[in-house]
Amino acid sequence: MNREPHIVVVGSANVDLTTFTDQFPRPGETIFGREFHLGFGGKGANQAVAARLCGARVSMVARVGDDLFGEATIRNFTARGVDASRVLITPGVSSGVAPIFVDSAGQNRILVVKGANDRLLPADVDAAADLLREADCLVLQLEIPIETVYYTLSFARRHGIRAILNPAPGQALDLAQLANADYVIPNETEAEVLGGMPVRNVDEARACAAHLLDGGLRRVIVTLGANGALCAGAEGSRHVPAHTVQPVDTTGAGDAFIGSFACFLSGGCDEYEAIARANVYAALSTLSVGTQMSFVTLERFQEVLG
Ligand code: RIB
Repeated sequence: MNREPHIVVVGSANVDLTTFTDQFPRPGETIFGREFHLGFGGKGANQAVAARLCGARVSMVARVGDDLFGEATIRNFTARGVDASRVLITPGVSSGVAPIFVDSAGQNRILVVKGANDRLLPADVDAAADLLREADCLVLQLEIPIETVYYTLSFARRHGIRAILNPAPGQALDLAQLANADYVIPNETEAEVLGGMPVRNVDEARACAAHLLDGGLRRVIVTLGANGALCAGAEGSRHVPAHTVQPVDTTGAGDAFIGSFACFLSGGCDEYEAIARANVYAALSTLSVGTQMSFVTLERFQEVLG
């Protein structure tokens, strides 16, 4: 990277309650899980922490509840060097939480209860406008109200600020609003929801990305897990292979990709290089359990890059 970029994440913060188990209880049944981890998560917070670990200056615009998780989340941001001065405590509301189940193949199932994340409104974005205007890049996801996402994307376009949208969790969206994003970065299932067509391999990702570009999106990167990522724009598409690993827990790997990509791109890497690096950073996050706690330091990342 040539310089330290400033990235502002407008998004969610959750506490992740991760249970490792291969079985799920039926109604009325009690069974044993293997192991449990409590950690900081939320797609927005994870992406902020990944960008920070990769060397960016990062500010978070978010809402937490007035509970133990809310206070702890703010302390976590501060401990990790993420500016939390625009993280608001919302009275009478719980913080966002995510019960997560991980099986022995490292695959996850996530249930998100949005709590205070759902109270992050366009007025909060306006209140942070001074911060947003000085950012090199805004990063958004879909665990906050959609109206806030659309509002922030439009703010970014009006002010000429690069904006990256991770349309996760997958849901139907207004493509005309997404045309305000410089990059829309879904995984396979999110791309299927957005494009209304199957995405099971690189060729299908290419077809879906082309369809989304026809719908008005500027640039699309479909992340494909072990198959790497497919980047598409008006000039055509390009596949960027994955960094191959044997995953232990893939939770948060998509967030590691988005946060690190935002940092590398805004720090001066060209697009292909930023994607290739983000593929490596995301793969390394799958080698240990948890979300933020599995994200590696810049030193470890550079050791692997060689
Ligand atoms: O992408 C993983 C994240 O999804 C978890 O941290 C969980 O909180 C949910 O937001």
